[in-house]
Amino acid sequence: MIAYHRTALAQDLVAALQGKALLGDAHNGLFLAAPRRTGKSTFLQGDLRPALEAAGVVVVYVDLWADTRRDPGALIAEAIARALEPQLGLVARTARRAGLDKVKLGGLEVDTSKIGKTDGLTLTEALRLLQESAGQPVALIIDEAQHALTSEAGEAAMTALKSARDQLNEPGLVNLMLVMSGSDRDKLLRLVNTAGAPFYGSQIQRMPPLGPDFIAHVAGLIEGQRPELKPVDQGLLQQAFEVFGQRPQFFMAALGQVLSPLAAITGRFEPALLEAAQQQQTQDETQMESDYLGLKPTEQAVLWRMLEQGPRYRPYDAEALRFYRDKTGHPVNAAQAQRALESLRQRMPALVWKSARGEYAVEDAAMHRWFEKRSQEGQWPPAPPQGGLPLSDD
Ligand SMILES: Nc1ncnc2c1ncn2[C@@H]1O[C@H](COP(=O)(O)OP(=O)(O)O)[C@@H](O)[C@H]1O
Ligand SMILES: [Mg+2]
Repeated sequence: MIAYHRTALAQDLVAALQGKALLGDAHNGLFLAAPRRTGKSTFLQGDLRPALEAAGVVVVYVDLWADTRRDPGALIAEAIARALEPQLGLVARTARRAGLDKVKLGGLEVDTSKIGKTDGLTLTEALRLLQESAGQPVALIIDEAQHALTSEAGEAAMTALKSARDQLNEPGLVNLMLVMSGSDRDKLLRLVNTAGAPFYGSQIQRMPPLGPDFIAHVAGLIEGQRPELKPVDQGLLQQAFEVFGQRPQFFMAALGQVLSPLAAITGRFEPALLEAAQQQQTQDETQMESDYLGLKPTEQAVLWRMLEQGPRYRPYDAEALRFYRDKTGHPVNAAQAQRALESLRQRMPALVWKSARGEYAVEDAAMHRWFEKRSQEGQWPPAPPQGGLPLSDD
């Protein structure tokens, strides 16, 4: 598996985080959104992290989706503790050698017997300790940061991080850099766009998808291995990549197949690749359609409303309840709507996401694109196949 490195993008972001960019306020927190499987985690770990380290920054990376059963707040605290361990080990050894049972670290009194454990330290203290003992700025990268909003401890962690940022940073001096990524812009927005949001006022950037430089790189690899295929049609490759939703994994897998000596392809591989992309797209849409059709009428109605309203979705207001009644043909009260929402959330995989404040959204933003497309084509709602019986709620 090849990994294409996006060095220039990483360099730009490092400069922005250091507050060196002319415009923008990445030094107050960088928020990056891009759909699932478009290469965010790969970039953050494989490109941004080493670029920050090369610039003399201590990096703490945590993916809140790595284990969704764990509380996001605890995952963040643990990641910081893990980064602190080697630093504190050094501090502890020096202190013990000097016969000290307490050390002072930048205004913080730390009990040397407790060093190595971070219980009792607030996130701000732990981050300050890390920054001062390393003598370097710290970057905290939180992948799938919107997941923090699904628990109260996670929300509290976000608020604590904002306060840590305000305490550690001074004009012209960035000691704590925060990078938050998310697969869903609307959910990430909840961190920044209401007056009570932890990072109120910050902007969400679209993390650029892999582009023509990636395609050129892949074309170069193909031409290197299979000179008889020169010149590779990069335009068609790019087109196929876009139909694959700019998801490199699917693109590369399909490429491997059409280039395989076992593939029964006559003629060029590029059109076969494009066809594979279209098939995958159809398959994704068929899956969403059959998921939708498998739902009970009330579940369909709440999901429909959610797709239609997007970030404006209010599950139980009078208009929503009227909508549910119109679509199901029977009255739906708030308790019934809530039951439907919960069952959409409990499915595997979940169709619905819920924040600690009780806000709901579709779990996978790809569903919005599917809904928009079908609506534009006049194909919404999906109809059960001929002869299929409509499901009932009980
Ligand atoms: N720069 C890249 N070059 C090659 N393949 C990549 C690259 N970035 C991502 N991929 C492939 O796409 C898959 C999904 O990427 P990932 O970073 O996990 O996406 P995200 O975090 O946006 O969901 C990876 O497992 C890898 O196979
Ligand atoms: Mg990821």
